[in-house]
Amino acid sequence: VSTTGVSEHPIDEALTDILGSRPQAMADPFPTWDRLREEVPVHRFGPRVLVSRHADVRALIRNKASLSSRAFIEGSQAEAIFTSLTEEQQRAHLEVSAFESNYLSRSDGDAHTRLRNVAHRAFTPRRVAELREVIARRTRDLLDDMVGEAEIDIVSHLAYRLPLMIIMEMLEVPPADQSAIHEWSSALGRNRGADDPGALMDAHRAMGEFRAYVEEVVLPARRGAEPESNLVAALMQAEQGDRLSPDELTAMFVILLFAGHETTTNLIANGLLTLLRDPAAWRMLREEPDVVPNAVEELLRFVSPVQWVLRVATADVDVDGARLAAGETVFLLLAAANRDPRAFASPDRLDLQRRDARDHLAFGFGPHFCIGNALARMEGAAVFAELARRFPDMRLATEELSWRGNAKLRSLAALPVHPGPYREAAR
Ligand code: HEM
Repeated sequence: VSTTGVSEHPIDEALTDILGSRPQAMADPFPTWDRLREEVPVHRFGPRVLVSRHADVRALIRNKASLSSRAFIEGSQAEAIFTSLTEEQQRAHLEVSAFESNYLSRSDGDAHTRLRNVAHRAFTPRRVAELREVIARRTRDLLDDMVGEAEIDIVSHLAYRLPLMIIMEMLEVPPADQSAIHEWSSALGRNRGADDPGALMDAHRAMGEFRAYVEEVVLPARRGAEPESNLVAALMQAEQGDRLSPDELTAMFVILLFAGHETTTNLIANGLLTLLRDPAAWRMLREEPDVVPNAVEELLRFVSPVQWVLRVATADVDVDGARLAAGETVFLLLAAANRDPRAFASPDRLDLQRRDARDHLAFGFGPHFCIGNALARMEGAAVFAELARRFPDMRLATEELSWRGNAKLRSLAALPVHPGPYREAAR
């Protein structure tokens, strides 16, 4: 099945549109992922290699000996992009990259282990279970505000707000700053690898402001105060014990605020869109609440809120009969892997009772497996269960949907719905 060396293929036109984040290509990238996976499962496209089969993605994503997470700074794609930038853009790119290399998600080896150890205890299923009540309360409050509305946008009203409120509470960040944090996060998220100079300069500005906010507003208020949350306690102790440098501490707040909501927003919005297009599934969710946890897994598989992750090969690696060369940027297409018929029967069918739904790679796999997975699962379950129970007649207000220009985090710009009559829930 080797396709190494193939540099042009009829699919490249569709890939150009998707990887270029053309909003119209975002509506349904899945036929392109299917073709890629079935026809050219290891495909060189410009300065990168795309890998799309479940078994291959799963093997590579955990292979830290030959693949590094520093792909935003090193490797064939990063180099190609860098040389295409003006001097001013190159400076901005280096500054953004230097800050972002302190992220847990972009570090390797010992540094990664150290950063991960600082944060992970606050995200274990047991710790996250302690947040159940807060998540339920915040969800109910947001749903209360929808009562009596003829039409409402789920994205701006619920999908980004709930996860952002929760991670802000965990980090003891003032609730009043929600919009600013959302705006900075979106700007950072749109800068997928500096290939769009407009997005790069926006991300550069956002990073400066976000960083100054954490350093000048959030951290001074936390120093010397008695932490209320486990997460803040862990982070502040790590800094005092020299297990986190000041820049790493700032970056940890930024990555958690960013990753803690941009992704879950897509699970909620794209997941709800999927459900509302499938009346039988929506009914099942309403009538059989026990199905909710598995429904969340199936929706994660089905929508893949993060469509791919990036790596750079640090040594030659063989995959599916092809060879990735050291220095090549590798896209691991989670969205294609999650619809691989070799891994899931009838993968394009939404089946809320699918037994092996949990084998999806939506949270990645291996050393960088999503640290927030238990939290995201709980937030998704709370939202889908409450929506189906309290707004059982909810309908899409339009099929004309618009997508934000961000292919990696395939985000709806808005999801207008008619909530329908509200059903009082027992409290
Ligand atoms: C549905 C929601 C979510 C999805 C689909 C998702 C997806 C992912 C994926 C695919 C990775 C692996 C990245 C890689 O291998 O390069 C990851 C890592 C990560 N996620 Fe999530 N995530 C979600 C929610 C969250 C939440 C709620 C938080 C925090 C509160 C979070 C924080 C992180 C962090 C810090 C990492 C980096 C972990 C590491 O590198 O060791 N995520 N996530």
